[in-house]
Amino acid sequence: MAACDLLIRGGTVSDGTRAPRFRADVAVSGGRIVKVGDLSSERGREEIDATSRSVAPGFIDAHTHDDRLMLSGPGMEAKVSQGVTTVVAGNCGVSLAPVRFKGRPPTPPLDLLDDTGEWYRFDSFAQYVGALNDAPAATNAALLVGHSTLRCATMDTLGRPAKPAEVAAMRAMVREALQAGAVGASTGLYYEPALAATTEEVIEVCRPLAELGGVYCTHMRDEADRVMDSLDETFRIGSALGVPVVVSHHKVVGLANRGRSRETLPLIAARMKTQAVCLDCYPYSASSTILTADRIHVASKTLVTWSKAMPQHAGRDLADIARDMGVTPEEAVAKLIPAGAIYFSMDEADVQAILAFETTMVGSDGLPHDAAPHPRLWGTFPRVLGPYSRGLGLFPLETAVHKMTGLTARNFGLEGRGVVREGAHADLTVFDADTVDEAATFAQPIQPARGIDVVIVNGAAVWRDGKPTGARPGRVLGRT
Ligand code: ZN
Ligand code: CU
Repeated sequence: MAACDLLIRGGTVSDGTRAPRFRADVAVSGGRIVKVGDLSSERGREEIDATSRSVAPGFIDAHTHDDRLMLSGPGMEAKVSQGVTTVVAGNCGVSLAPVRFKGRPPTPPLDLLDDTGEWYRFDSFAQYVGALNDAPAATNAALLVGHSTLRCATMDTLGRPAKPAEVAAMRAMVREALQAGAVGASTGLYYEPALAATTEEVIEVCRPLAELGGVYCTHMRDEADRVMDSLDETFRIGSALGVPVVVSHHKVVGLANRGRSRETLPLIAARMKTQAVCLDCYPYSASSTILTADRIHVASKTLVTWSKAMPQHAGRDLADIARDMGVTPEEAVAKLIPAGAIYFSMDEADVQAILAFETTMVGSDGLPHDAAPHPRLWGTFPRVLGPYSRGLGLFPLETAVHKMTGLTARNFGLEGRGVVREGAHADLTVFDADTVDEAATFAQPIQPARGIDVVIVNGAAVWRDGKPTGARPGRVLGRT
C-alpha cells in the first residue's frame, strides 16, 4: 500500500462538529484528509506522534484585520502560533481594497491597516486577490469588502449619507468584490467614516450579497447604551437583504451597561428563529481601537497601543502619561493622536456569557500593526482553550474547538474546512489540551502561545517546535 504524505498517529480528535472526542490516526495526502481511524498498518512519508495530544481542525479566526499583514508579514506568526489556519479579513468596514491613497489614509480607522497609505494600492478587489494568490501567506483567507473603504473610494466628503450615484458606485464595487472571491461585506457604523451612513444606504450598497451570496458583518453603530437599537438595525439590514448577519465582537461597553448581555443574548436567540444571525467574540474584558477622548470616559483604565505623534508612549497607561506631562488625560489624548488604545470597559461576566452562548464564534479582532497590541492578537485561541474551557469549565473542549472551527466554517460558507473528516482540506492543529495557554499579556503582548505543537495548512506544516516552518500554503477561500 502506498504511503500517504503525512500520518498523525495516536491523537485524540475533536473533529470540529462538537461530537465527543475520539482516538484516531489521521492520514493526509494531496492537501486533503484521506483517512481517519485506526491506521496502524499504514505508513506516512512523514509521521507525527500525537500520543497524549489533541488533533483538531485548524482554527478559523472569525474576525481579523489581517488584510495587509498577509502581504507585509506573510508568515502570520501571531496567528499560526495559536493554531489558526484561516483568517476572516476586511472587518469593521475596513478592507485594504478597493481604494488607493496618496499618503496617509484620510481618516481613522483606515490607518489601523496601514498608516502610510502605501499598502492601499488596489484599484479593484480582484487585484488584491491576485496579489494574495501571487504571494500566498501561511494561512488561508476569507475576505470581506469594507463599506468605509468604499465610502473613501467614492465620496468627496464622508459626513453625509451617500448620494444615489455614490450608492450605485459602491454597490458595483461590492459586486466586483464578490465576483473576485469575497465572502461578504462589512460595516463599521460606529466609526467616523460611516457614522452618517443611513440604514438604507447600507442595504442598497450591500444588495449584491443577496444576488451573489455573502454575509453581512457589522461593527454595530453602538455597543453601549443603545446596543439594543443597534441589534435591531443589524437584523433589519439582514432581513431586507435576506442574507446572514454577523454581529462582530459582540460586547456591551461601558461601566453603566454591565450585565446587559442578559438583554442582548435573548434578543439574538429570538431573532435566530426567523433569520440567520451569527456572532463572534474575543475572550477579554478590554477592547482595543483608536484613541479618542470620549472613549476614555467609559473605561476604568486606558493603555496606549501606538501613537504617531509620540511613539515612545506605546504600551503605557494613559493616566501615567498624563501625570508625567502634567496635563489632564483629555489633553494627553490630544497630544498623542493619531493613536490607538486598549480600554478596560466590559464586565467579565458579560464576556463569559457571550463566549458561552451556543452559537458564538471565536474571533481575535487582533490589530497586527500596533506597537504594543492588545494581547488578543497572539492569545485569543489558547485563552479560550486554556483558562476558559479547561480552567473555568465554561464549556467542554469539543465545544471550544467547534466555536473556532466547524461553526465558523459553516457560518462563512467555507466548504470542506473546520472539520476533521475524510475528504476535508487538511487544515489541522495538534496541541496539548492539558497545557495549552496564552503567553501574551497586557504587559508583554507579543508572545507565542504555549502548548501548540504542529499547525498544518492545506497539508503543509506552517508551525512546528515553537517556530514557523517558512511554508506559505495559504489560499483565498471562496464561499459555497
Ligand atoms: Zn470592530
Ligand atoms: Cu474589528
